Order: sequence, then structure tokens, then C-alpha cells
Amino acid sequence: MQKFEKFLLDNLPMSKSIHPTYEKALHKMLVAGGKRFRPALLLGVVNSYNTLLEEGAMHAALAIELLHTYSLIHDDLPAMDNSPLRRGEPTLHVAFDEVTAILVGDALNTYSFEVLCSAPFSDYTRVQLIRELAINGGLNGMVLGQAIDCFFENKPLAIDDIKVLHTNKTAKLIAASLKMGAVIVDREELGEKLYEFGIKLGLLFQIQDDILDVTQTSQMAGKLTNNDGDKNSFVTILGLEKAVSEANILANELIDELNSFDENLKNELSELLIKYINRHK
Ligand code: IPE
Ligand code: IPE
Ligand code: MG
Ligand code: MG
Ligand code: MG
Repeated sequence: MQKFEKFLLDNLPMSKSIHPTYEKALHKMLVAGGKRFRPALLLGVVNSYNTLLEEGAMHAALAIELLHTYSLIHDDLPAMDNSPLRRGEPTLHVAFDEVTAILVGDALNTYSFEVLCSAPFSDYTRVQLIRELAINGGLNGMVLGQAIDCFFENKPLAIDDIKVLHTNKTAKLIAASLKMGAVIVDREELGEKLYEFGIKLGLLFQIQDDILDVTQTSQMAGKLTNNDGDKNSFVTILGLEKAVSEANILANELIDELNSFDENLKNELSELLIKYINRHK
């Protein structure tokens, strides 16, 4: 992922203006790091089929990371999860102010689509990529998930509704990361298969995140933990033990599905996927 980090640094959103801190704030959460899980998934799919497309795929990988980073900045706002720490750094509303955090989020959201517009692919491929990111990251995807997550604080939901919440707020963007890789290598059927796999992977990813909220310190996680008490998290609703068994069931199903992938896809993605599939263990 070194190439991705370089691409990100070379393509940071710039704003030369009279504003003394806007540009610094735009960069802060992006350069703070993060696991870069979504870009790694997209690039893994592309590299499995055509390494020559990797450089172009960086645009799409960056676009996803930009949109994801915007979602984290807004997620941490006082009106949402009210968190002072992200990626080991003070959150933007703490380091700067709330206005800055809101506007940097807005800017990264739109910049992600600007980056996709300049990806070196055909118009058709570009529109497909823009569509996938918009559909999964937007009003009937991540944003809907966040709306449900915040609206139902302290209002316990049924477990099936929590799965819908997790699917929207987290799983759809993870599924889109895999599918956008398939769009780039022009494999429609693979895209549908990877999307379904990604929804399950994303659901597991959020259950694990809920588990880590009660098993890690803020320092270990680089973000505020023990912060899900009011939420419809798997752990808050089911308890830690049942959340872990739910995660184990999904993990086993995913490993079986991974074994049915093409040999090249399996070779390219196994290490990354196994690491994340077992993250809660
Ligand atoms: C955190 O995502 C928000 C969730 C969807 C659980 P990540 O755990 O991928 O956060 P970073 O990108 O590594 O900071
Ligand atoms: C946030 O879920 C998912 C997003 C869409 C940003 P969380 O609120 O559980 O994420 P963390 O734990 O703050 O990273
Ligand atoms: Mg949240
Ligand atoms: Mg949060
Ligand atoms: Mg969380």
C-alpha cells in the first residue's frame, strides 16, 4: 500500500486561500493514516486481473478513502458520536472548530467524485464508478445508515434492523470497494458476486468494530472507545459473547466463500481478507 500512500500525498485536496487553517484541516485526517482497508480491497481486485490498471485504479481507491474519511469526520462531530480522537489524532472539531470539521467533511465528499471524474478510464467506466460510490456512500447507503444509527440512540432495535443499519452505514461502502475493482477490470458478473461477499464482510467488519469498542482502550484503537453505550451496536444489544459468536459465524461463511474465488483473486486477497476476517479473535 506504499504506492497508495504516495498517490494520496500527491493528490491531496489543495486550497490556496486567505483562510489560515482550511488546507491544513483538509489534510489532517487523511495523512493521519487509518487502515486503508477499502482502498486495499479495490486494488487487490484490480491487481488480481490486470496489474497494468493499478495506476488508474488509484483514483478510485483514493475516492473511496476520501468519502470514508469524510464519513469519519462527520461521525465524530458533537451532534453525532461526539468523539475527540480519530486515527490517533484530535478530531477536527477539537483541533480546529466544528465549522471546520463540517466543511472539511463536505469538501472531501465532493472531492471524491472530482477524483473519480479524472480517473483515466472510458466515460462509461467512470460513470459506473461514480454511480457505485454515490449509491453506496450516499442517501440510500452510508448516510442512511448513519441517520438510523443516530436516530435510534437509546431506542433498542430488533437484531434484523440492526443488521440493516450496519449494512447501510458500513457494509455498502466495503462492498462497493470490491465491486468498483471489478468495474475497472470490466467483469460484471464478478462485481455482483464480490458485492454480495462485501456486504457480509462489511457486516462482520462493523460487528468487530462494535466488539473492539468494549475490548480496546482508546489508545489502542486511536479513537474513543467505550462510546457505544447508547447505540444499537451488536455488543450493546446482544452482549459481548453473542456478538463474538455472530462474528464467528460470519467469519466461517466468508472463509468458505473466499475458497470459491478464482485462484488469482484468492492469491491476491487472501492475506488481507483472512487478517480482517479474524480481527475479533
Ligand atoms: C471506522 O472505519 C468506521 C467503521 C465503519 C467501523 P475503519 O475502521 O476502516 O477506520 P480507519 O479508516 O482505519 O480509520
Ligand atoms: C461509523 O460507525 C461508521 C461510519 C459510517 C463512519 P462507528 O461510529 O461505530 O465508527 P467509529 O467506531 O466511530 O470508528
Ligand atoms: Mg457512529
Ligand atoms: Mg463513531
Ligand atoms: Mg464503532
